[in-house]
Amino acid sequence: MGKKITDKVTWVGKVDWELTYFHGHEYSTFKGSSYNSYLIRDEKTVLIDTVWLPYDKEFVNNLKRETDLKQIDYIICNHSEVDHSGALEELMREIPDTPIYCTANGAKILKGHYHKDWNFVTVKTGDTLDIGSSKLTFIEAPMLHWPDSMMTYMSGDNILFSNDAFGQHYATESLFNDRADNCELFDQAIKYYANILTPFSRFVTKKIEEVLSFNLPVNMICTSHGVIWKDNPVQIIEKYLEWADDYRENRITVIYDTMWESTRKMAEAMAKGISGADPSVTVKVINASKEDKNDIITDIFRSKAILVGSPTINNNLSHAIGGLLEMVKGLKFKNKKAAAFGSYGWSGESVKLLNERLRSAGFELVNDGIRSLWVPDEDEEERLINFGRDFAEALK
Ligand code: FEO
Repeated sequence: MGKKITDKVTWVGKVDWELTYFHGHEYSTFKGSSYNSYLIRDEKTVLIDTVWLPYDKEFVNNLKRETDLKQIDYIICNHSEVDHSGALEELMREIPDTPIYCTANGAKILKGHYHKDWNFVTVKTGDTLDIGSSKLTFIEAPMLHWPDSMMTYMSGDNILFSNDAFGQHYATESLFNDRADNCELFDQAIKYYANILTPFSRFVTKKIEEVLSFNLPVNMICTSHGVIWKDNPVQIIEKYLEWADDYRENRITVIYDTMWESTRKMAEAMAKGISGADPSVTVKVINASKEDKNDIITDIFRSKAILVGSPTINNNLSHAIGGLLEMVKGLKFKNKKAAAFGSYGWSGESVKLLNERLRSAGFELVNDGIRSLWVPDEDEEERLINFGRDFAEALK
């Protein structure tokens, strides 16, 4: 059922309480998600975005309870990824001639997905659509986070329909940010930014500056996932500007994998050394094979530096650390430092390999790393504590 947002705008999306993974298994969504779609009823009736494919029939049936589908004058497709366009086919079967407003890239991608010659109307930044007492203005937002992404601004109600930007994978019945659990909300918002938007931070900054330069009043930001920012919507814009600016907190994360506990002992000793040297720093120790990969990425995003450890296995790294570093490389973190560590018995290549991987992922190496042969004893533990201390000192 729809939920009224203003006299003219109704939320007609889907809250997905059960979603645990997104983008295949690339992104964990332990707090569910939502696919937000909006129906505007002015002199013209406009639908903004749809929902993910598994909910296409439910979506269209619910939409029919809100309006006669034939009354829909325009469909706005802010972004063609299937979580927002998935119900288009089901909808267009009923209203095949309704114009779909999207960017030129959006039209290409929608054709590539659905292979239909729908009535696409391509728009650019600054193009407008009069819908009665309100006007829609389109703002292209390429690489936030796909080449086709755009936002739509509605005058009168002063709503920015931002699509993925400012969203979170967070299921909530109450819809508005001031009614959500704000600890959960911001945890999910930063996780979303860290895991999805980090590589596009330069575009984020430029786009926000451009939108702010329009001096448009913004009463609400209606995202395509999670809450609607109604209470002080500027707060999430400010957070995005902060996160896009090579974000780092006074935090060091020690990430490791271990076979027979030696690399774990190394990690714990080094964490001791770090906190001894710098009581102001937050230190977190994570076993990469036991913690969720996207939560680890969020910790890396928040850290000024990381220590990464793996035992040597078959002249290589453990799969948990190897896989994690592949993700880290793709996210193109900036302004972060690192060092490597690992236990070994025979060949002991892990630290050399970690150094190569960290360097190619854009991290500045603080030193050459440290290796421990077999199981650390008390003397070795002292050496590792000192390594952690020196690492923390080098970051001051
Ligand atoms: Fe929520 Fe890029 O799709």
